[in-house]
Amino acid sequence: MSLIIYGTQYGTSKNYAEKLAAIMGAAAVDYRKLPRNIDEPEVVFVGALYAGRMTGLKKVLQVLEPEKHRLTLVTVGMTDPAHPTLLTELQQPLRKKIAEKQLELRGIYHLQGAVNYETLALKHKMLIKPMLLVFKKKKPEKLDAQAQMMLQAFEKTSPVVIDFVAFAEKIQN
Ligand SMILES: Cc1cc2nc3c(=O)[nH]c(=O)nc-3n(C[C@H](O)[C@H](O)[C@H](O)COP(=O)(O)O)c2cc1C
Repeated sequence: MSLIIYGTQYGTSKNYAEKLAAIMGAAAVDYRKLPRNIDEPEVVFVGALYAGRMTGLKKVLQVLEPEKHRLTLVTVGMTDPAHPTLLTELQQPLRKKIAEKQLELRGIYHLQGAVNYETLALKHKMLIKPMLLVFKKKKPEKLDAQAQMMLQAFEKTSPVVIDFVAFAEKIQN
């Protein structure tokens, strides 16, 4: 029996978690509304990435118990899953946090998210705008992989297409 928890700021991770929940026959719950005790032994946490941090991971790790739960982590962000090193670098500190808690990590996966500059909160616009201006002034070959990823993410117009049935199968095997 699985429980799907999500941590989101703009709804993409919630949407992904609800799609997975429908396919897996599980419930999807916001990390801010977690009960004190989680009965399901299998927990899938779908969390949005902001500056390398996963929204809600701290709370999820507080509630899960090493003897009782196994965790599958699904990061949601603009990082390209096909990039050879970015994902590994991004996941390393997350793995460390889970190991410190002595929780069993069943798997760690990544789904491409969505971003729309116009709908961002002011605090995020203020972070992103100067960063994009700096990146745009540089020649593309002078940008590191993370910078290229951010620039592409905010210029991208077509939404990502994810096969959730295949993804649900992958994370359950
Ligand atoms: C201020 C800001 C910082 C971000 N940092 C990262 C990041 O470090 N890594 C990443 O892959 N995506 C990053 N993103 C992209 C978001 O993770 C992406 O838009 C995601 O779909 C948001 O999910 P949510 O709608 O569930 O909040 C960032 C977006 C913003 C606005």
